[in-house]
Amino acid sequence: MINIAVLGYGTIGSGVVEVLNTNGDSIKKRAGDKIAVKYVLDIREFPGDPVMDILVHDVDIILNDPEVKIVVEVMGGVEPAYTFVKKALLMGKSVITSNKELVAKHGATLIDMAKERDLNFLFEASVGGGIPIIRPLNQSLTADEIVEITGILNGTTKYILSKMSDSGMDFEAALNDARSMGYAERDPSADIDGHDSCRKIAILSSLAFGMQVDFEDIYTEGISKISDKDIKYAKSIGARIKLFATSIKENDECVYAMVAPVMIKANHPLYSVNDVFNGIFVRGNVIGDVMFYGSGAGKLPTASAVVADIVDAAKHLGKNIWTIWSSRKLELADIDLVEHRFFVRASVSGGRDLKAHLDKARELFGDIEPLDCVVEGEYAFITPLIKEKDMKEKKERMEGLLNVIRVRF
Ligand code: HSE
Repeated sequence: MINIAVLGYGTIGSGVVEVLNTNGDSIKKRAGDKIAVKYVLDIREFPGDPVMDILVHDVDIILNDPEVKIVVEVMGGVEPAYTFVKKALLMGKSVITSNKELVAKHGATLIDMAKERDLNFLFEASVGGGIPIIRPLNQSLTADEIVEITGILNGTTKYILSKMSDSGMDFEAALNDARSMGYAERDPSADIDGHDSCRKIAILSSLAFGMQVDFEDIYTEGISKISDKDIKYAKSIGARIKLFATSIKENDECVYAMVAPVMIKANHPLYSVNDVFNGIFVRGNVIGDVMFYGSGAGKLPTASAVVADIVDAAKHLGKNIWTIWSSRKLELADIDLVEHRFFVRASVSGGRDLKAHLDKARELFGDIEPLDCVVEGEYAFITPLIKEKDMKEKKERMEGLLNVIRVRF
């Protein structure tokens, strides 16, 4: 029997206990031994829940128990999770986490600590919920140099954009739905402003490139500026708007990363990723393009990834699974030098007619593609490829500007 302890009995923690109970027999076969939850740590009480029999409020009971071989941290947030995880590793316990804040901030340190002690620090559930992506990057795609990772990594924003686009639901109603289903972060601005996606692409980039990508360095824009009018224009040209988290390696000297809404058409592999699903597109220099798709959030999908890590750690007691993620910082390229095409929406103003506005836009941007008008009193067009820094400067000079969205077609 392999004893484990679960730190945090919220959505994911209770899901982990549920999965271990529901699939105990098959998990035992795969792990080679029975996995037993000896303790659950939480500051709360859960009257009537069988977890009360194993509930503790003092983490030291877990840390000082030599029978506990694996600690599962599903509390979220950097502290006290970081302190508890470090102590668990120092006490000779492998650690599994779903905590993207913790992994993005301290992943390299915790991986090293585990390596030095023949333990494991595994974090499959920290990105993409139930989708296997960490293990494939770390173990399956090792023949490749990864040149691009582009993901729809946040279920809440995906859900909001899909509902606004397909059912005409407004932003608040869609957010409330996502909350009630347990997808949204405690503070949903982490979802809406792109910070959750930012941490996740930082983790994937660090693994793909083997160096520390600091999430603070990643240019990040959320979805709060996306309106039903942008969605109308996108629909009118067969496009959809998705929050993309991207990192691209142009060459050894140039890796850039960004999180931002983009317009894509049906020929993009991530076009059909809707509702709460996540999709991750990986391009390797040998394998070519690979796609990962599935439930990116929610109790049981996330718990499934956590339990898969528990099984892996149980199969590797006393043996570290090598992970390349050094603490050496990867300097990201300046995003200002990256080129995109942009969708631009503006109001017809200043007594000028549409033709005069389009002529002015041509003077500013060059060979634009005007779109059919779908909103009274507005016009829209798509620019040719321009550098981010030039776009910033042109935005300043554009009259009646309403919104600008990057385009990937
Ligand atoms: N708030 C996150 C999301 C949860 O919506 O994807 C999973 O990390």
